Amino acid sequence: MEREGRASWMKYGPVVSLFVVLLSFWFRSPQNEVLDDRLDTVLSSLLRAEGKVGVNNVARPKVAVGFGGCVDLIVDGVSLLNKIGLAHTDQPLHHDLIENEVQLAQSFAYFFAPGAAAERFVLNDTFFSELVEASRDLPGNRWAIGGNAPVMAGRMATEGLAGNIVEEPDIHLILEYPSGASWGQYTSRRANRYIVHSDEHNPYLDSMAAFAEKLKGFDPDLLVVGGLQMMDNFPFQSGEQEGIMEELFHYVIPHADSLGMNEQELPNLLSLLKGSNITVLSDPNPRVATVLDQMREVYRIVNLRSKEDSDTSSAKAKPLTRLHVHTLAFQAMIVTHGSKWKNTMSATAKASLTANRHVCGSDDIDPSKARLIMDDSFSVSRREGSMRVPLQESRPVSCWDEDDYEICVAPVLVCTEVYQTAGGGDNISAAGLVLQI
Ligand SMILES: *[C@@H]1O[C@H](CO)[C@@H](O)[C@H](O)[C@H]1NC(C)=O
Ligand SMILES: *[C@@H]1O[C@H](CO)[C@@H](O)[C@H](O)[C@H]1NC(C)=O
Ligand SMILES: *[C@@H]1O[C@H](CO)[C@@H](O)[C@H](O)[C@H]1NC(C)=O
Repeated sequence: MEREGRASWMKYGPVVSLFVVLLSFWFRSPQNEVLDDRLDTVLSSLLRAEGKVGVNNVARPKVAVGFGGCVDLIVDGVSLLNKIGLAHTDQPLHHDLIENEVQLAQSFAYFFAPGAAAERFVLNDTFFSELVEASRDLPGNRWAIGGNAPVMAGRMATEGLAGNIVEEPDIHLILEYPSGASWGQYTSRRANRYIVHSDEHNPYLDSMAAFAEKLKGFDPDLLVVGGLQMMDNFPFQSGEQEGIMEELFHYVIPHADSLGMNEQELPNLLSLLKGSNITVLSDPNPRVATVLDQMREVYRIVNLRSKEDSDTSSAKAKPLTRLHVHTLAFQAMIVTHGSKWKNTMSATAKASLTANRHVCGSDDIDPSKARLIMDDSFSVSRREGSMRVPLQESRPVSCWDEDDYEICVAPVLVCTEVYQTAGGGDNISAAGLVLQI
């Protein structure tokens, strides 16, 4: 399947119907006026920062986005579970794979309460079909282009770049839930989603050959590879996953100029790089200092490896020159000095604004549907005696230099009336990239 430009994106979204305005916890009262002013200033300053530079429309860089195509069926998670009569559980449990109702209930409960993003493979076609069937006529459901590749390419096309997608879509069922939703004895601490899918093919290698073939004629300026996170929950044959991790570390990461990920994927990648097991559940609301420390470590290890690879093998590894991590409360980027990435400050602001736009489902940001949850100041590292950076409303994006790179951090105006969270990461990552090429 190949799509170009924006119009063809629409074909997949004809069923955009009702949308339910979910619970909002932001009550407005006079005491909040000071906060409101602060939020308005942050918003106007972020918009200014975003508008400082434009997308490179003159050159219209060509971007190829690969892997992880699918169609998302988005439903209210709790409504779906209630509809299929899934019994509540008092045993939240981690499962690598979901085979039946009991495991789904336990696994959902595990991620739902902390409000952590999760994506699980259903190793039972009958059960997966039942879930999809029940979702099809659930009020308020929506179909959307999903998966990393299509969402990222869609965002880039919207921003004026030329995109090209490869791949047949599978259905991903997105169980969304707002902050404060309750299911059985559990209450979600933040809005997020739990994704189930039953993709037939190997999420990575199968599409690689087709992708490589398409690339030949397209000759992109930027190659974006997504969907790699799915590898942590695909039921690989024994030994297969190690093989794929090996390929990932040998053939993908050393050749990537940039990596983008969320607060769950960052500690996972770091664990893998250090040779330990994947952290199943990480803090869904990490502090800036923690994230920056993890980013520095990923940046350091990846670059050390690329250097070693270049020294020992003929395939030339590239240094990693850009690392973008998005969390609910803030966006953080590391960009190497003198690399080709431009406009880091504006790109960080854009990523932050896109987070609100995507989750609220509107290009115009309504400050009454936004909230700042980042603290008034943050420490740049957990190391003792580290610099503290105040969050200045009129200059909300903080950038500073360290070693051979620049770091920028921007607060997110967290959307309080959630329209959708799924696809947010890809939309945000893509929005961050478009101002930098
Ligand atoms: C697969 O799903 C079906 C339908 O929900 C269920 O009856 C069956 O027990 C499941 N199989 C396994 C191995 O759990
Ligand atoms: C990693 O996971 C494997 C298999 O689940 C287990 O045998 C091993 O002890 C774990 N290693 C660490 C360092 O936790
Ligand atoms: C990305 O977010 C925007 C909101 O700014 C939305 O209009 C668009 O549909 C999203 N794109 C995708 C492919 O999800």
